[in-house]
Amino acid sequence: ENPEYVAQFNARIDAGGFIEPKDWMPDAYRRTLVRQISQHAHSEIVGMLPEGNWITRAPSLKRKAILLAKVQDEGGHGLYLYAAAETLGVSRDELYEALLSGKAKYSSIFNYPTLTWADIGVVGWLVDGAAIMNQIPLCKCSYGPYARAMIRVCKEESFHQRQGFDLLLTMMKGTAEQREMVQDAVNRWWWPSIMMFGPHDHDSVHTETARWGIKRISNDDLRQKFVDATVKQAEVLGVTLPDPALKWNAERGHHDFGAIDWDEFWNVVGGHGPCNVDRLAERRRAWEEGAWVREAALAHAEKQAARERQ
Ligand code: 3HC
Repeated sequence: ENPEYVAQFNARIDAGGFIEPKDWMPDAYRRTLVRQISQHAHSEIVGMLPEGNWITRAPSLKRKAILLAKVQDEGGHGLYLYAAAETLGVSRDELYEALLSGKAKYSSIFNYPTLTWADIGVVGWLVDGAAIMNQIPLCKCSYGPYARAMIRVCKEESFHQRQGFDLLLTMMKGTAEQREMVQDAVNRWWWPSIMMFGPHDHDSVHTETARWGIKRISNDDLRQKFVDATVKQAEVLGVTLPDPALKWNAERGHHDFGAIDWDEFWNVVGGHGPCNVDRLAERRRAWEEGAWVREAALAHAEKQAARERQ
């Protein structure tokens, strides 16, 4: 690569500037962005499935309307992110093929089942809470289209997290059975939620993302921020987080917490979690059954283009 271009690129990054699609960029910068943005998009699209499962079974019209809006938002987030990835020269079809073939990753968290209505509240509170922690720094990432997509996503994510917390607060003011349902969901989702931030920094392979201003805060620092913020919210809710080692460490000014089960993490990332097979089968089914919509849209676009050429 031309050393002058590299020097200019690094200077722009070091000055906190944005790289735009038409700017020169190292191939490795482009590749790591396609990897991260497309997997982020896949996560949004697959993430619609655990919640979509409860739209027809929501306990009230209000909760059904809220859940419908949230799942629709996630689909939109996926489209923004696929569009941001396309500015790097990859096609939408290539990205979908990478997901549907099992080659590409998506966030491990979406491979867990949503067993009760309380899961929907906990997903909003913990999963979207973790996603907000992880996505706010991305609003300042060095690649312009990704940073701008994140600004819109984060505005909608805060509604996602608040509606989840509100749902749980309502249940915690309900019957003992409802309170047990919430605690059971917290027990199942707490550890997978803190795994969302990725491996420990010393096991994080993509050090280039920090060097190039894509990853502004490390996996462990974001995880710690999330734990510290969530402990207080759990106290307000009146639930306990399932970690006996979780306690305030005045010296560190943070909460200590127990060891994460990385075997479980890599087992789920590797495709062997509770719902991996179902999630991909569902996405493949949607792709096949949706082929006629794509063909009709393409045929319509060709007719329109032909009319404009006359
Ligand atoms: N699930 C699946 N794979 C994960 C993972 C997770 N929770 N955490 C890390 N990995 C993968 C990485 O993708 C990488 O594999 P790859 O080389 O094949 O891509 C490997 O584990 C090593 O991890 P690294 O920490 O070295 O990788 P990164 O530097 O890319 O950091 C990340 C991982 C923090 C997830 C980063 O990619 C990131 O910030 N991604 C964008 C944000 C994102 O995807 N957020 C989560 C899903 S979005 C969401 O939750 C939707 C919301 O609406 C609910």
